[in-house]
Amino acid sequence: MTIEENKELKDLTTFRIGGPARFFVRVTSGQELTDALDFAREKNLPLFILGGGSNILVSDEGFSGLVIKIEIGGIEIKDVPEDSTIQEVIVGAGVVWDELVGYVVEKNLYGLENLSYIPGTVGAAPVQNIGAYGTEARETIAWVETVNGATGEIKVFTNAECQFAYRDSFFKKTEGKNYVVTRVAFHLKKQGIVNTSYKDLAEYIKSNNLTDVDLGMVRDMVVAIRKHKLPDVKEVGTAGSFFKNPIISRELSAHLHQEFPLLPEYEVDAERVKVSAAWMLDNLCGMKGHVDGAVAIHERQALVIVNKNNATAQEIKNLAQKMINCVKEKTSITLEQEVLYI
Ligand code: EPU
Repeated sequence: MTIEENKELKDLTTFRIGGPARFFVRVTSGQELTDALDFAREKNLPLFILGGGSNILVSDEGFSGLVIKIEIGGIEIKDVPEDSTIQEVIVGAGVVWDELVGYVVEKNLYGLENLSYIPGTVGAAPVQNIGAYGTEARETIAWVETVNGATGEIKVFTNAECQFAYRDSFFKKTEGKNYVVTRVAFHLKKQGIVNTSYKDLAEYIKSNNLTDVDLGMVRDMVVAIRKHKLPDVKEVGTAGSFFKNPIISRELSAHLHQEFPLLPEYEVDAERVKVSAAWMLDNLCGMKGHVDGAVAIHERQALVIVNKNNATAQEIKNLAQKMINCVKEKTSITLEQEVLYI
């Protein structure tokens, strides 16, 4: 394990923006993680845990603590004695998310296929409860193994203890930020039913006249749709959706629908609904494809900010603020970032 100093973080993030880390280390095992945490504790350094770097914006000044990049690998598939219909898939936090999805789809295990082609690593899946095309990671996560960054103790969280919500979990709360994810276990079905009800999937099936849609086909469709709608993080500097879809009261939603009847709305609970941030930015603010110097909003998805040409973090933040201001003015809703600022 080598601790590097003044490490450039830019190329470790998909936005390809930001200053250096004072200290940086890659860890490939629980032991290395413990050693890295000891180093941070001895020097009283703030910590940042890095996975695929696909949902963060590093400030232009960089990070004045220790960045630990989690590279703990391994995928293990086990039977579950009390339930013969599922298998437990235990995965190292550093495994690339889409490699896991490809692997389990090949093994004919159901549950992750709609989450194909999401950038990032497995460790981030429980932290922000990744979701796409009608599925969220919380539906299949059985337990999450962590190390407490402050005490070095290992703690395994059950699904309920993770307190999952839309793009949210215990690990995002102040107390939860102490815990570093080392392994995640998923319970996947040996025989399942594919979920193709999300608008984009249903339309794809219809327009391509597909029948008998199976697991592999769902994966292929999701990859095709994502490739079409979202910029490829290998080619374009971006962190995907920049904001969360806001969750608002049914009362406010009803009020907004009087003025904007087409605003897409999704069920949350008895009191609340989720509305589409992309739709508002596109249809109320006309911001799709908007270019602002070195930064821009993607031409096919108004929720996605792109770094067009060596942008600074400040330029991204300025554009984000314009987007927040516009939606606030038109709807009274304050958009909340999905991307984490460091
Ligand atoms: N829409 C527009 N204009 C746009 C984009 C979308 O009017 O520029 C409309 C669409 O027609 C649709 C609605 O807005 O009616 C929602 O669009 P979409 O299906 O693209 O999904 P989203 O809500 O914008 C969410 C996730 C994505 C995920 C997609 C697909 C969040 C913050 N984002 O986007 O996740 O891939 O659904 O399930 O929940 C990410 O988190 O980084 C991410 C890309």
